[in-house]
Amino acid sequence: MKILVVGGGGREHATVKSLAGEGRELFCAPGNAGIANLAKCVDIKTNDIDGIVKFATAEKIDLAVVSQDEPLVLGMVDALKAAGIRAFGPDKKAAIIEGSKAFSKELMKKYSIPTAAYETFTDSAAAVEYIKSQNKYPTVIKASGLALGKGVVIAQNFDEAAQAVKEMMDGGKFGDSGKTVVIEEFLTGPEVSVLAFTDGNCVKPLISSKDHKRAHDNDEGLNTGGMGVIAPNPYYTPEIEKEAYEKIFIPTINAMKAEGRTFKGVLYFGLMITKDGPKVIEYNCRLGDPEAQVCLSLLKTDLLTVMNAVIDEKLADIEVENEDGAAIVVMMCSGGYPESYEKGKEIYGLDESGQNPDFEYIFHSGTAKKDGKYYSNGGRVLGLVEKGKDIKECQDKVYSKIDSISFDGSFYRHDIGGMR
Ligand code: AMP
Ligand code: GLY
Repeated sequence: MKILVVGGGGREHATVKSLAGEGRELFCAPGNAGIANLAKCVDIKTNDIDGIVKFATAEKIDLAVVSQDEPLVLGMVDALKAAGIRAFGPDKKAAIIEGSKAFSKELMKKYSIPTAAYETFTDSAAAVEYIKSQNKYPTVIKASGLALGKGVVIAQNFDEAAQAVKEMMDGGKFGDSGKTVVIEEFLTGPEVSVLAFTDGNCVKPLISSKDHKRAHDNDEGLNTGGMGVIAPNPYYTPEIEKEAYEKIFIPTINAMKAEGRTFKGVLYFGLMITKDGPKVIEYNCRLGDPEAQVCLSLLKTDLLTVMNAVIDEKLADIEVENEDGAAIVVMMCSGGYPESYEKGKEIYGLDESGQNPDFEYIFHSGTAKKDGKYYSNGGRVLGLVEKGKDIKECQDKVYSKIDSISFDGSFYRHDIGGMR
């Protein structure tokens, strides 16, 4: 069986590792130096729909897994299916749940799914007028479209809010993605990521997790794609889980179906546990990264079985089981990330296969290999994973040896999972 995973970061490394098995030949486009130890990497860009379809057709791929937001929102799954290739991931109509916050907010309003109060604007003067009339800070300004996780501004006062609106709507920051903005009520409470498989009829979540988005310790610094994750999320109690299931997960998949946009794939619920219960902060149409690195590490059920059940709308027939215990991933990043940073630094502490036997596993986010040596090739470079009976044990394991791996300018957060 030939499987193609489209993407080239830590999430795809984790996906490829979970899909590996006897009789399965794995390909990854474009992949990275770590993934190359498990799959054949092919140099096709993740948003090159024609290139991916041509390759999948020529190679007679049996299953293509599209795991990044951009190709999903652009309709790569539709194009693969049209070419007769079995594909995992939501189609374009369903991926809009991440591709347009204006859409997802409207969906939640229409179907009474708990989320922050909001208004949508396509005119910057009207947006600024609204901010003035609300006169409530902090307030949250969001670019409606995809913005590499950078399209959210928490404005502390009128000037910051007005500046954010002008940069996005008039200044072209984020291109078309910022032409429409959502202005949202600021919520407080712990955040939870729930990555859930759905075939449009039922929902089977992976273990809950907690991302750490700010670049530096104590949640200081800029927002990033994620600096580290723990699972399970200590704030996600059985009571909250039940409420989220009844008021958010099931209503969301039913709403998408009712809108003629049945969602099949992984739906990522970014929740905030407010004093009024869990509310949706954002939906993503794919696995989170680095969430996938811990959640898939704790998945006991064969990932291929789950993906097939989603595609065949038979998810209700299988169990999605997680291991007991906990896991952590700490991201090792290039100095300067998430702003400008240098690439091409030699990474010390990895063996020939890009691993270090002292760790449970090391997922590669941005690496390259030359003459047998590994080099940094992105902002987030490595995901260092540990498992244990609880978060504390995971933290102790990862932080006691993390300094055996390094490259010039590398940094990581010391407080993933909370101060020890
Ligand atoms: P997003 O890209 O939508 O996940 O937003 C990035 C981060 O901004 C979230 O993880 C939250 O920490 C924060 N955020 C987004 N929306 C809100 C909100 N309505 N209230 C408070 N914080 C928010
Ligand atoms: N870690 C957040 C995301 O994947 O969107």
